[in-house]
Amino acid sequence: MPVPVDIAPARGKLGVLLVGLGAVSTTTIAGVFAIRKGFAKPIGSLTQMGTVRLGKRTESRSPRINEIVPLSPLDDLVFGGWDIFDDDCYAAARTAGVIEPALLERVRPELEKIRPWPAVFDQRYVKRLDGPNVKKGANKKVLAEAVVEDIRAFKKANGLDRLVMVWCGSTEVFMTESPAHQSIDAFERALEANDPQIPSSMVYAYAAIREGIPYANAAPNLSADVPALVELASRTKTPLAGKDLKTGQTLIKTIVAPGLKARLLGVDGWYSTNILGNRDGEVLDDPESFKTKEESKKSVLDYILQPQLYPELYEHLCHVVRINYYPPRGDNKEGWDNIDLVGWLGYPMQLKINFLCRDSILAAPIVLDVALFLDLAKRANMFGIQEWLSFYFKSPMHAAGLYPEHDLFIQLMKLKNTLRYLKGEELITHLGREYYD
Ligand SMILES: NC(=O)c1ccc[n+]([C@@H]2O[C@H](COP(=O)([O-])OP(=O)(O)OC[C@H]3O[C@@H](n4cnc5c(N)ncnc54)[C@H](O)[C@@H]3O)[C@@H](O)[C@H]2O)c1
Repeated sequence: MPVPVDIAPARGKLGVLLVGLGAVSTTTIAGVFAIRKGFAKPIGSLTQMGTVRLGKRTESRSPRINEIVPLSPLDDLVFGGWDIFDDDCYAAARTAGVIEPALLERVRPELEKIRPWPAVFDQRYVKRLDGPNVKKGANKKVLAEAVVEDIRAFKKANGLDRLVMVWCGSTEVFMTESPAHQSIDAFERALEANDPQIPSSMVYAYAAIREGIPYANAAPNLSADVPALVELASRTKTPLAGKDLKTGQTLIKTIVAPGLKARLLGVDGWYSTNILGNRDGEVLDDPESFKTKEESKKSVLDYILQPQLYPELYEHLCHVVRINYYPPRGDNKEGWDNIDLVGWLGYPMQLKINFLCRDSILAAPIVLDVALFLDLAKRANMFGIQEWLSFYFKSPMHAAGLYPEHDLFIQLMKLKNTLRYLKGEELITHLGREYYD
């Protein structure tokens, strides 16, 4: 019989540190306040609405996730964050234009109290942005220490018990691993030397991980996904998750592609295009930031369809991803997918998907879930990369030498089995022979 994992209780207040108070962050924060006050429902959030089946199908045991593992209640969350603009969270939410003004007014006093701390920012990494609320420091190590000071002051002022950090800042330019990222020593030397290989997101990630604060990356830039920071996370027993929230078009892709593959239908082409008019769209209009996003979006199909195992079906797949900045749409993204399929005897078919979605409405419940699950992981002494949270990400972090799991349904099974494991319940294999013996 499996034994439950020892998990510290979720006692006291949990500080949720959000880097970047833009559309995703403000929609998350305003949403949590609205839900707390009973004005809205936490739709899309597993931690708030999801259930897990325990035991056999005949037992009818499907408790809510937050009943089987100790998660911080929404009432215990305290939000803080950084941004290069000094608008308070209410003003930033108005600018983002995701939540309607009438609902925002109802949580306005709580939102106005959240003012961003000056950011660690360098325009080299986000070319389309510039703002006044930026820290100054002799080098990146000094800036990291200033972030740590912000965190400690926030913790003290609010009597917080624990903290988590989620990067919800803009997508930085495309970067690959360099020698500065290979070990903690090399990384710390690079911070002091102001090495250009350390973008702003890594400065925050370093500060959080060094303090033992769980860290997730909602965007596709490398951030904590380098050997030095993974090593630091293991030293400080810090859980990590990322990268790039799986919302919108990629969410649909990872729902549809496993279905086509399950029936061994061939795919010759998958053309995806989006129009998006928010600040994220503007940042992604820069080719260097788009490259980071494109890499993240494109890898998904290769892993799901496994062309190396099914060359006749997927070897020649032409996968194209486009994002077009189109201001009139604001946060209401429109995505089109054209999928060229191949069936029995090689007969061609087509599938067209037109998704009129709301980017940040899809992202906010994920930010909440990831924050609560990372806090759970920390209390359960699970540190390093949390593969069971792959469910939420387009480019799931994974151990070196392992390929990431992209299939949404396998990811969900992994997440729920992790919760069963924590609770000391039997894992569900779906073999099911016992019902027929
Ligand atoms: N909305 C989604 O569905 C979704 C899905 C996946 C990933 N993402 C990613 O999440 C991130 C946030 O998206 P968004 O729609 O909220 O974008 P946004 O542009 O509305 O917000 C980003 C905020 O980060 C701030 N920022 C940039 N660099 C910073 C720094 N170094 N320090 C502090 N603040 C900084 C910007 O000023 C801005 O306010 C983006 O990288 C986006 O690509 C969003």
